Amino acid sequence: MDSLPKDKPLFTPGPLTTSLSVKQAMLRDIGSRDNEFIGAVRELRDELLRVGGVSQQDGYEAILMQGSGTFSVEAVIVSAMPPSGKLLAVVNGAYGDRIVKIAQVHGIETVVQRYRENEMPSVEAVDEALAADSEIKMVVAVHCETTSGIINPIEAIGKRVAKYERCYFVDSMSAFGAVPLDLEAAKIDFLVSSANKCIEGVPGFGFCICRREALLATRGWSRTLSLDLLAQWEGLEKNGQFRFTPPTHTILAFRQALRELEAEGGVAGRAARYEENYRTLLAGMRSLGFVEYVDPDLQGYIITSFRYPEDPNFQFQKFYDLLNEAGFVIYPGKVSDADCFRIGNIGRLNKSDVEALLLAIRQVLETMRVTPAVGAGN
Ligand SMILES: Cc1ncc(COP(=O)(O)O)c(C=O)c1O
Repeated sequence: MDSLPKDKPLFTPGPLTTSLSVKQAMLRDIGSRDNEFIGAVRELRDELLRVGGVSQQDGYEAILMQGSGTFSVEAVIVSAMPPSGKLLAVVNGAYGDRIVKIAQVHGIETVVQRYRENEMPSVEAVDEALAADSEIKMVVAVHCETTSGIINPIEAIGKRVAKYERCYFVDSMSAFGAVPLDLEAAKIDFLVSSANKCIEGVPGFGFCICRREALLATRGWSRTLSLDLLAQWEGLEKNGQFRFTPPTHTILAFRQALRELEAEGGVAGRAARYEENYRTLLAGMRSLGFVEYVDPDLQGYIITSFRYPEDPNFQFQKFYDLLNEAGFVIYPGKVSDADCFRIGNIGRLNKSDVEALLLAIRQVLETMRVTPAVGAGN
């Protein structure tokens, strides 16, 4: 194990840098019907509820779903939208747009409230839409819009959705496990995230935490076999098994990742490390002259979009390649109305990793002869 290659730290939104012990936990061949595996699945489901601050006694369930995070998002849309009725999508980034696309593919009528990618959605607009249109059956919002790093007002939106007794679905892919969220207070019916985000597992499955009553209400609605959320839950409840081949190795890694989350102090402990990474990054990038795309008051500590410097010597691909050669992986931008790149603070990284990245960025800028001063508000 000592001879494992040292991979470059991933300053990305996932897959992420994981601990050696998480990777080691996968070095098993365990049967999908094996009692040990069934026990691991039960442990994961219970623990996920605990991380979410809810329990089965409170009426919540955790469902694991094979595939990447998008599969779990799609599972909720195609399983929990009634056969008729509209979806209201609050969109301020590419992941909100992806949900609209999913709905389109399945012929679900969608009302889109679209905002700029560094703009906070309006809670009042959600209220007004729900008051005006009783055909809207579900509202969906993205918690941390990983496109920019903005944190959306999930709890405030949820209270309006509950006022009109509609279903509320939150894509908390890149936030769950590291950004505190009170599911009960936010009136969330369905929430999804995946294994390779803030819980620091490896890719292979997503999960949904939902209110049992909301889940049971979806009987007969599913438009899909493999992504049928209710059938998946019933399968897991019946014998603890997945309906179709489970990602056994990923699940063992995730069990270890959850134990490490607990050892770090749960959501609060993880949030503290990521916040420290973010503060270190922000101070360092600002001192180099970089400007963020999102206003600091709206910005979360998960991932930050930085605007390209105005210097004509700056070319992102060269910047990326030189950083990569120096041993650091950052991420291209995704916002549609500004040239940006992104740096993630999540995964098994700490302040010293961020400091090493900042040093490398300084050296790369020198190599590229980029003057580390950028015009604000470009
Ligand atoms: C908020 C959000 N939603 C959905 C997804 C899609 O997840 P995946 O790429 O695992 O399908 C991501 C991925 O980063 C995300 O950040």
